[in-house]
Amino acid sequence: MSCEYQGLQFDRPGLRNGTAQGILNPMKQPPNRSAKPAARTAIAIMAAGKGTRLKSKHPKVLHEVGGKPLLAHVIAAAQQVIPAKDIYVIVGHEADRVRQAVQDAGVGFVLQEPQRGTGHALMSAGKALADYDQVIVLSGDAPLITPETIQKLRDFHQHRKAAMTILSAQLESPTGYGRVIRKAAGSDEVRTIVEEKSCTPEQRKIREINSGFYAFSLKPLLANIERLKTNNPHGEYYLTDMAQVLREAKERVVAIKTGNASEILGSNTRAELADLDQKVRRNKCLKLMAEGVTIFYPESCVIDAEVEVEPDTVIEPFVQLLGHTRIGADCRIRSYSVIHNSQIGESVLVRPGCVLDDARVASGAVLGPYSHLRPGSEIGEGAHVGNFVETKKVRLGKRSKANHLTYLGDAEIGEDVNIGAGTITCNYDGVHKHKTVIQDGVFVGSDSTLVAPVKLGKGAYVGAASCITDDVPENSLALGRAKQIVKEGWAKKKRESR
Ligand code: UD1
Ligand code: CA
Repeated sequence: MSCEYQGLQFDRPGLRNGTAQGILNPMKQPPNRSAKPAARTAIAIMAAGKGTRLKSKHPKVLHEVGGKPLLAHVIAAAQQVIPAKDIYVIVGHEADRVRQAVQDAGVGFVLQEPQRGTGHALMSAGKALADYDQVIVLSGDAPLITPETIQKLRDFHQHRKAAMTILSAQLESPTGYGRVIRKAAGSDEVRTIVEEKSCTPEQRKIREINSGFYAFSLKPLLANIERLKTNNPHGEYYLTDMAQVLREAKERVVAIKTGNASEILGSNTRAELADLDQKVRRNKCLKLMAEGVTIFYPESCVIDAEVEVEPDTVIEPFVQLLGHTRIGADCRIRSYSVIHNSQIGESVLVRPGCVLDDARVASGAVLGPYSHLRPGSEIGEGAHVGNFVETKKVRLGKRSKANHLTYLGDAEIGEDVNIGAGTITCNYDGVHKHKTVIQDGVFVGSDSTLVAPVKLGKGAYVGAASCITDDVPENSLALGRAKQIVKEGWAKKKRESR
């Protein structure tokens, strides 16, 4: 059966709109130590598969470990080795979603449609790769691969002048992986790769496995790839069969074993994803600790890949730091706080159980316990936000305090303001949102409702339990409540009349 280059299509968003932004990052290029003129190298990342074993409606390569899609980890490693313009992601299942998720990286895309196996993925990339000398093939579902190992694979391939170099690993439990069958013990040449399902009981005992990462010289690859057959349990074109195909074409096929077997681990199941996630997060904690951050019980913390924390900050058990969160020095983040995409200054105390989302907190502020800072919350230097206080689109000025049971939304609050317990900005009339302005030095008594739009002028006082519907001038007192009535002796009479 002949294999046509089906559905071939590739594009490169960065170039199409006339910019090369994100494509070349000279800072990330390691020095080229080889004396010979460098072979033109491409990297192809296979990411078209469905990931049936995850039982998910989402494409496998968009599942996350360490708070980042699997594929984004692989692209990041590849970009440390060659410029993004030479990296091609092979997409297929949910192609648009996958493309969208990683297009900021400036890599190219190749469409594999339909998805008929890893061999077919490379067939689909044939045209895009035609101008290169060699291609390194990575698996979009194996996120722990390091730039060093990719480089080693490339260098070994060139050094051995091979047609195909397989990155192999020795695993304690090789179940599920293809086994590498060497020509002879001690030889680096490979006879074939046998997929788990096709292994004889003898072959199943082999613990040297195929990582799913390869280097190919393009000439022999493209000249022979159409010889792949689909006579296997899945009826797919297996890229692994290229070992035997190339050997039969008298080409050299070798394997190089990685010293660090854990970096090739794939994520075919949810259990494997959980293992990888734990590894990535453990590494993140170790890195932060090496940089001077104290983490009491790292196994319990969930810290995403892009999070930054400055030295001498203490992170207590069961804290989650997510997205692009940045935390300054000397902070203490107490247990059960979940902080997402937020910026925190120095010496901030986050007491237990706080939830922050897209918030900014200046140095010396104190939050919690149980504060909820929603998007657009800007908490000033030394300000306090206490228990059961919710904020949204709010600027709370320096040293201002909202310590108990309060909702502050769509408000501009000055410095040295005291917001009493139970204060509510009534910002929503059922159709529109309105703004509350509270100027410097205002004192808002407990249980006040501020019906927006409304403005409290500098230094004004609001009596407790007031409903404020009109602006309050500077330095004045506003009372917005029914006058108290006292009926002397009334209670006593009531009791006696029973
Ligand atoms: C593959 C190898 C196996 C190796 C293992 C290492 C084959 C046949 N087997 O098995 O020897 O031990 O990786 O992890 O290659 N993909 C496509 N298009 C497709 C099918 C898959 O792009 O038509 C992509 C997937 O999205 C994935 C990668 O290729 O990122 C690997 O596919 P997967 O199905 O996970 O292969 P394994 O069964 O793990
Ligand atoms: Ca896999």
